[in-house]
Amino acid sequence: MCGIVGYIGEKQAKPILLNCLSHLEYRGYDSCGIAVSAGGLEVYKDAIRVQALEKTLPKKVNGKIGIGHTRWATHGEPSQVNAHPHCDCSGRIAVVHNGVINNFQKLKQQLSSEGHRFISETDTEVIPHLIEKYYDGDLAKATELALREVEGSYAIAVLVADEPKLVVARKDSPLIIGIGDRENFVASDVPAIMDYTNRVLYLEDGDLGVVTPEDIRVSRHGVAVDRERHEISWSIEDAQKGGYAHFMLKEIHEQPKVIRDTIGGYLSVTEPIASLTMAGDTLLPDMLILACGTSYHAALIGKYILEQLLRVSVRTELASEFNYSGQISSGSQAIVITQSGETADSLKAIKRLKEEGCPVIVITNVVGSTASRIADQVVYTRAGPEISVAATKSFTAQLMALYWLALPYAKIDIRRLDSLIMGLRQLPGKVQQVLDNEAVISEYARQLSKYKNIFFISRGVNFPVALEGALKLKEISYIHAEGYAAGELKHGSFALLGSGTPVVAIVAQDNTYEAMLTNIKEVKARKSPVMALVEEGDEVVEEVADSVIALPQVDALFSPVVNTVALQLLAYYTAKERGCPIDFPRNLAKSVTVE
Ligand code: F6R
Repeated sequence: MCGIVGYIGEKQAKPILLNCLSHLEYRGYDSCGIAVSAGGLEVYKDAIRVQALEKTLPKKVNGKIGIGHTRWATHGEPSQVNAHPHCDCSGRIAVVHNGVINNFQKLKQQLSSEGHRFISETDTEVIPHLIEKYYDGDLAKATELALREVEGSYAIAVLVADEPKLVVARKDSPLIIGIGDRENFVASDVPAIMDYTNRVLYLEDGDLGVVTPEDIRVSRHGVAVDRERHEISWSIEDAQKGGYAHFMLKEIHEQPKVIRDTIGGYLSVTEPIASLTMAGDTLLPDMLILACGTSYHAALIGKYILEQLLRVSVRTELASEFNYSGQISSGSQAIVITQSGETADSLKAIKRLKEEGCPVIVITNVVGSTASRIADQVVYTRAGPEISVAATKSFTAQLMALYWLALPYAKIDIRRLDSLIMGLRQLPGKVQQVLDNEAVISEYARQLSKYKNIFFISRGVNFPVALEGALKLKEISYIHAEGYAAGELKHGSFALLGSGTPVVAIVAQDNTYEAMLTNIKEVKARKSPVMALVEEGDEVVEEVADSVIALPQVDALFSPVVNTVALQLLAYYTAKERGCPIDFPRNLAKSVTVE
């Protein structure tokens, strides 16, 4: 998704902007650009990577104020002309933007009739022209007037050649200001500026900021507001690869620590991490869990966890679909899961839930994210920055949060509760055992990498693990993969089975075991090679399957954790064998801030 950076201070802006942009590459992008001001504007941009742009720049680009952008195309193909920054007619105002301007066609027509000339297909280009229309020597005022006409979402940074300041604003897209010493920074995300400062200020929806080297002023509708300064506790090393070939592999390996950190943060099981009850101790009768992508798979597992432990009925929905059809009964409790806290569909769902009076607990990984600020209650996962586009450690941390959310309300006897808590505390070690088996998994991945289509099947609490295993494989290795409830395969998809279509079967030691065994035999009878994930010591499945990955024994309720880690490694090594760009898969973005 688009990334924004900005610099104002005593140093040359060009190298700082390029460095900040390189730290935003993990968001996924197709074009990039910078604008630097030293009395006149110099704009450089193209549909290329940041490193390639750097090579095309003149050695001397003078200017101590600048803005930069990585673009992920929404309106108009990736091209030089559509890349940001965008300028007004005079070429003295430059804007970088993340978000979508819904009424840009209307604004474009109107501005064109007033003599403004547009050169790109983007929605963004209306912003510099609107600012130009209102500009009479005060950039902040002109930006405020311009934004009054804009409908949609935006985080913007604006520069005018005539004034030594940056003007920034946000609505429904993230934007932060980094605080330096006689210099300040602007960014859509913290990793962009971590080489320079760990002190940040989060803008809120409707805020407009004026940034100079010495000063940051934030206002809403012309009235000054104070925004709290935060200190970022993670280091730049946390956001870098730490010796691993890819961020994804590093993040997979961080999972024992992530589990420890996340459950360590939720000290007591008697004190809930968020209240699932409104008043008194009665659980709300209807629970609803919403999310997108991998977080949705965590939501599906959450349904099994909450239903099994709390004996309540839980509904799960994709946030994007809920926004069209989902009904909310009064007395419902909603949980929205989002790693980034910025996913547009999830934010829209939260806003709708709140409008209808439904209390919302957000499970998110990003402190200060939009979701965390609009939720009634927030449960933070402690996964640290997740750079790889494919979510891994954040998913595991989400599961930890769901277990911990459910345990204080669990309607189970004390011995079972004790054994679950002990099981949770042992999970980091169990996950480490899976990681220690990496060499075996990578050998299986080498075999899988030759196929074009792969099915993942399971039942019960591991059915969402099959979905997640398939998603991970397809997004980074580009092999077509489908996750299926094992019982559903014979209702149509059996037609695709055969020796060229392997099936990965996830077999847990729970009430699904016998049915899974039957399903594996059915698949084998159609000649599909079967790779099974089993609990160590399971000789029965080993007899039937072509190959097995043996995983440490855990309570079946926690089996999604160890199974998913194994499937993450399987996807990673399959993609590696195929030479794919693992951390930045084609067409994908880390944070999906458009609907
Ligand atoms: C897949 C992946 C995505 C995200 C989805 C939701 O590996 O990362 O499917 O899970 O875009 O993102 P968040 O959790 O930030 O709302």
